[in-house]
Amino acid sequence: MKFFIDTAYIDEIKEAAAMGIIDGVTTNPSLVAKTGRTFRDVLVEICDVVKGPVSAEVVATTCDDMMQEARALAALRPNIVVKIPLIAEGLKAVRLCAQEGIKTNVTLCFSATQALLAAKAGASYISPFVGRVDDISSGGMDIVADIIEIYRNYDFDTEVLVASVRHPIHVLEAARMGADVATCPHKVLMQLVKHPLTDIGLERFLADWEKVPK
Ligand code: E4P
Repeated sequence: MKFFIDTAYIDEIKEAAAMGIIDGVTTNPSLVAKTGRTFRDVLVEICDVVKGPVSAEVVATTCDDMMQEARALAALRPNIVVKIPLIAEGLKAVRLCAQEGIKTNVTLCFSATQALLAAKAGASYISPFVGRVDDISSGGMDIVADIIEIYRNYDFDTEVLVASVRHPIHVLEAARMGADVATCPHKVLMQLVKHPLTDIGLERFLADWEKVPK
């Protein structure tokens, strides 16, 4: 399974990249807004650090306007994947992007049938938002399982990118289901690294090392 980091903070991206655990980056308008920097500056800097796919979201809501943004974003760096919301106009834009060779990540997906449409339109990635579904007392990961089954049934090339990840169990379930990618906030990546027995074990080894004659 590939790991993307879900952030627009360059320091978080650099730290995860240095650990060799990330294959790409996802951003969204809310994450970029938190940085206080321009979208272009943030994207270009991220693409200088990570050579894998970097998702950059359009903010237009009509197909024509989305296509203008998509072409401009894709021209910035070769690894930019254009993130398009799962609305009717968005699907039209996904189809055109596929025809023009622009990679897309279809975002704000909340059902397996939406994901089926995105695959038919030619999406490179589909992003089911599992945490937001859990937030309304439904099963986010159940949707991922359905999408994986449907995509396998019909051999779609669209990659399943588990998004809105909130905790390590989402990652564990995504990996067990065979999702292609999980995009995680920096905090969740660090939670995955940490185990209390590792910390206790290391503390003991270091304490015992002090007793070894030097
Ligand atoms: C993914 O591409 C999205 O940016 C992200 O995972 C949304 O997560 P949230 O529901 O925690 O905002």
